[in-house]
Amino acid sequence: MAVIALRNVSFEYPGGHRALEDVTLEVGEGERVALIGPNGAGKSTLLHIMAALEFPRVGEVRVMGHRVDRRSAAEARRKVGFLFQDPDDQVFMPSVYEDVAFGPLNMGLPEEEVRRRVEGALEASGAAHLARRVPQNLSLGEKKRVAIAGLLSMAPPLLLLDEPTANLDPQGRRDLVNVLAGLGQSMVIATHDMSVAFELAERAVVLKGRVLFDGDVRTLLKRPEVLREANLELPSFSRLMMMYREHIGADFEPPLTVEEALALLKAHR
Ligand SMILES: Nc1ncnc2c1ncn2[C@@H]1O[C@H](COP(=O)(O)OP(=O)(O)OP(=O)(O)O)[C@@H](O)[C@H]1O
Ligand SMILES: [Mg+2]
Repeated sequence: MAVIALRNVSFEYPGGHRALEDVTLEVGEGERVALIGPNGAGKSTLLHIMAALEFPRVGEVRVMGHRVDRRSAAEARRKVGFLFQDPDDQVFMPSVYEDVAFGPLNMGLPEEEVRRRVEGALEASGAAHLARRVPQNLSLGEKKRVAIAGLLSMAPPLLLLDEPTANLDPQGRRDLVNVLAGLGQSMVIATHDMSVAFELAERAVVLKGRVLFDGDVRTLLKRPEVLREANLELPSFSRLMMMYREHIGADFEPPLTVEEALALLKAHR
């Protein structure tokens, strides 16, 4: 069964701005999907709908088979962890520790289990050293780590991540990618960072109001017209390898990771 399924969803904001047009999309159990598209493409809107924070008037949303509407929203939200694009929308308790403990406490878990989860989540998100700090005073990247710890502590079956690596430093970005790659949950990751998309997801959905592409990331690389329409740019190592391919007259597909690029260089010396 799909963890989440959208069928023919269109969405207009009050005032009439149409943000989504006829979106049909399913995410399977354990599947990781990169949601990519230019500014204003509707990525955050789509995630808000998946998180039962907005309700489309046209189309249908189901979380684990159950229809989502305003009445059933609370039930749906228990199955979905949502990382807001802006962490200020998310962190609000007087200390980081309490902030990360908020979800598991609300789930009614015993104190020992709450502590275990909070410590594990802070460790995994690289925020253990921040446990006693006041969330409001943290830097943007620090807040993001705390917000991610808050999600991990609840371990919902579906994670919706809106620009999870934006504002993280390179090491923080690398650490987060490794943490996410190690999780078994279903994930939808909205990102402008194609290398994050390639490292985490095998499937890409390209959005620009409507779905321009839904399929294997390797297939997306062979669709320059989609990349162009969505203002997407391949990572610099991929572009470099495509120039190299031209230069030596070889034939290979654009690499998705630095490791793949290196393997190609070794094979085509
Ligand atoms: N509350 C709102 N009221 C009216 N229009 C909105 C609202 N929120 C978003 N929009 C509009 O809906 C469209 C989609 O916005 P959305 O934030 O979903 O895009 P996005 O793909 O997440 O962009 P970004 O890459 O900049 O985060 C945009 O044109 C935006 O201006
Ligand atoms: Mg957005």
